[in-house]
Amino acid sequence: MSNAKVDILLLGSGGREHALLVKLAQSPRAGRLYVAPGNGGMDAMAEKVEGLDAESPVAVADWARGHNIGLVVIGPEAPLVAGVADAVRSAGIPCFGPNGDAAQMEGSKKFAKQVMARAGVPTAAYRSFTDQESCEAYVRQVGAPIVIKADGLAAGKGVIVAKTIDEALEGVRECFSGAFGDAGATVVVEETLEGPECSLLALTDGKTVVPLATSQDHKRALDGDKGPNTGGMGVYSPVPEHLVSAEDLAAMVDVERRVVAELASEGITYSGCLYGGFMLTSEGPKVLEFNARFGDPETQVVLPRMKADLVDVFLACDNGTLSEDMVSWDDDWAVSVVLTSAGYPGSYEKGKVITGIEKAEEMEGVTVYHAGTALGAGGELVTAGGRVLDVTAVAPTFEEARSRAYAACELIDFEGKTFRTDIGLRAIR
Ligand code: AMP
Ligand code: GLY
Repeated sequence: MSNAKVDILLLGSGGREHALLVKLAQSPRAGRLYVAPGNGGMDAMAEKVEGLDAESPVAVADWARGHNIGLVVIGPEAPLVAGVADAVRSAGIPCFGPNGDAAQMEGSKKFAKQVMARAGVPTAAYRSFTDQESCEAYVRQVGAPIVIKADGLAAGKGVIVAKTIDEALEGVRECFSGAFGDAGATVVVEETLEGPECSLLALTDGKTVVPLATSQDHKRALDGDKGPNTGGMGVYSPVPEHLVSAEDLAAMVDVERRVVAELASEGITYSGCLYGGFMLTSEGPKVLEFNARFGDPETQVVLPRMKADLVDVFLACDNGTLSEDMVSWDDDWAVSVVLTSAGYPGSYEKGKVITGIEKAEEMEGVTVYHAGTALGAGGELVTAGGRVLDVTAVAPTFEEARSRAYAACELIDFEGKTFRTDIGLRAIR
């Protein structure tokens, strides 16, 4: 592998992208780092590209060519589904992230279900509908509990886990009413699965699949898994054996391999990160969803534990030379607690001054990834989103990582600071 420096353009603005940026910057091969659009934390360590539309394939490819970029890293799903990776690769520039056809694993739940069926991968039984009437009739026939999903990208919304038929019917109507735009024109109705959830991300070049460490997200807003679904309130890694047996883990890795192989056999090269969201049911792990990118906040606990040169690994995913030995793991545990703005996932105020991050990061093993932050007019750091900061701690024991993360949360302050107090408790037997 060459040792030449590579200038990198990273697309995205969340905690996931901040964690990717920190890891990329640690690579001896990282040259100049550019972010679009970035956030308060990312802007402090990379050059912010003003005015670049990160979801425009032509704009990104042109900008990257004009600036001698040697690697474009795509964080979120929207540019992937829009075909940004295709355009970048067509311009002869290496890219981390799947092309548009492969990104349909996230961009269309129906597409993903069909691939899973052909690959023989366990998932919830389902039917898909394009007209409201037959969808409602089916829901009435099957009864609750039942899960209603808008087919396309709905920014983390668009999944209704309905306990009653009325809730399910309301979800069906919401999808067909256009609440999720085109994403709801096709609706997937599936059986409800039960059990703990586990995420398994894998890196792949379309042939070789390298599983990353397991992690467990906490999606509900309130302690005890109560309240509405969010983009994720906290996460830890790895998931201990009393929750995920060696057998479960092998089954999840097998799922990732089968899906990549199935796509390859259909002429689709999946290169990038394939995120598998699993329910650990009494019959073994079953797929809830695939994402075509790193998870957020999973990345914030997986990458700090990963020993790898991320620039080399991402280039290898792009050019088909990925191998297992490029990635190894620390034995440490990682816990990340998300600090949110009061009101999230509903409406919330922005522009609150944030203090204490430096103090928090003085603690051993603590890194604070920015999610929804920006630099204010006077250069001060302010809140700019619902999920504001991902306070992450790495330590030799789970208990230590967890208590360090929470101690660090206490050192940070902004008006309306809100967080769950039970992140990771399930990992403690
Ligand atoms: P998804 O975006 O498909 O992962 O759905 C978001 C969340 O909804 C998941 O993390 C689960 O908590 C829940 N969910 C999705 N599908 C199902 C299902 N078939 N059964 C039970 N819960 C589900
Ligand atoms: N943590 C869930 C996701 O990234 O979609």
